[in-house]
Amino acid sequence: MKQQNSALSRRGFLTRLAALGGAGAVYHGLTTLGLLAVPPAYAGIPAYPAGIGKGRRVAILGAGMAGLTAALLLARAGFEVKVIEANRHIGGRSLTVRPGDSYAEAGREAMVCRFDDGLYLNAGPGRIPHHHTAVLEYCRELGVAMEPYIFASRANLLQSDKAFGGQPIQLRRIKHDLRGQLAEMLAKVPDPAALDATLGPADRSAFLEMLREFGALQSQGGGLVYRGSNRAGYAIPPGAARTPGTLNPEIELKALLDSDFWKNGLFNDMVDYWQTSLMQPVGGMDMIVQGLLRAAVPGGRTVRDLVVTESPVAEVANTATGVRVVHANGTEVADFCISTMAPSLLAKVKNNFTPAYAGALRRIQDAAAFKLGWQATRRFWEEDDQIYGGISWTDHPVTQIWYPSDEFFAKTGVLTGAYNNGATAELFGRLPHDGRVALALEGGEKLHPGFSNWVYRDRALSIAWQNMPHFAGGWQNNPPEADPDAYFRLTVPEGNVMLAGDFLSYWWGWKEGAIRSADLAVEAIVARVGAARQ
Ligand code: ALA
Repeated sequence: MKQQNSALSRRGFLTRLAALGGAGAVYHGLTTLGLLAVPPAYAGIPAYPAGIGKGRRVAILGAGMAGLTAALLLARAGFEVKVIEANRHIGGRSLTVRPGDSYAEAGREAMVCRFDDGLYLNAGPGRIPHHHTAVLEYCRELGVAMEPYIFASRANLLQSDKAFGGQPIQLRRIKHDLRGQLAEMLAKVPDPAALDATLGPADRSAFLEMLREFGALQSQGGGLVYRGSNRAGYAIPPGAARTPGTLNPEIELKALLDSDFWKNGLFNDMVDYWQTSLMQPVGGMDMIVQGLLRAAVPGGRTVRDLVVTESPVAEVANTATGVRVVHANGTEVADFCISTMAPSLLAKVKNNFTPAYAGALRRIQDAAAFKLGWQATRRFWEEDDQIYGGISWTDHPVTQIWYPSDEFFAKTGVLTGAYNNGATAELFGRLPHDGRVALALEGGEKLHPGFSNWVYRDRALSIAWQNMPHFAGGWQNNPPEADPDAYFRLTVPEGNVMLAGDFLSYWWGWKEGAIRSADLAVEAIVARVGAARQ
């Protein structure tokens, strides 16, 4: 394109944008055209003038991502920090279970990991989106190696008892047949301008060409139709010489609608936080925690030296000069406290919070979350189904099965054989471990007939986060939208107590939210001592 034309079209574009969306739209338009520098998504790991915290003490409740991040930043700035963790395990929900490790839900026998050496289950978080710039920046700085986490493979399966005789169907067939059929329907619209006022008669041919590409349509009888496509895969794959292959039979729209796949799994890879690429730390999600614990802080110490474990908190009280935190191993008299506990749990600790603040804590709702991990006797998903990573979805309560994103062709591997939340997780959570295993086998059979023969039942690990001591669930239910009043009240410090955690962010249920809210809590403390970020 010639420069002059390009400049003219830019002007037209911006005028249009201004008419549509005002100055904000123009700003975004300018950045789209490369005429303004796009501000960096994340300003980098905060750094404060060394020593500004000298003589000040901060008690941090909880040694998960938020607590450890806050501890690192504050200790680097010279604050005297103590992280008080109720559990023996450091890392919060970042729990990677390896052979010999154990954990126990409240009132239950300990689960002991009996996987073969080298295998592990990420029993909590398992993936990091590529746009979670804060957590990735920490990984970069802390030297945590990352590898791809495969969210979706076109070979993954969808299964519903409501359609296709309950048979699992490859995602590629459902996605591409649906797309083709929708494109054909739109191609039949005589006047696209009737659908979108910005289109005119002159746009019709481009519109149709776009639909042809979008849906893999073919010309027929003067129109465009969908008659199947190799995007939906082959019943008989192409081969050498005289083997052209036979396409999968087309799946009708009616069957797709009846299947409910569109409610469960079909579009999940389009959700912003699950869009490719995602990542996972090499060797387990807790590698990020290990990186934080190794990080050096003043006084020849590491963050690990700041943490006291197995020390549940009994009281948090604002005082005239700061805060008092009573825990199993002592009493901290500090200038500030950052609590990263689930709000509902903090509300149960003895405190002298105002009624409005205590009420807001109680209103943040916890979400149950359940996972079950299997060690497989062979990688049947690779050998039988050409599935290399990704997730298969079912309307059985297991909801989803995750396949390993690494170690392709290995002899064995770990499947996440169930992952669900809300009422389904509560159902699993109420069952004894054996009952969970039986139910998860049933779900596995739906997606992979023969499944029960290829997993070690006696090595299964199950975890219902709502039952874990000192956790309230897998995460909190979208606090900013579910209960904005309570959420915004909690963003304001209560005297010298402030909160941090994914629940206090728009990335609830993600490490990114934990880190960003920890950054803000630290910034608030730094501001109180009269300093600013460098
Ligand atoms: N961040 C969690 C997930 O990806 C909720 O499933």
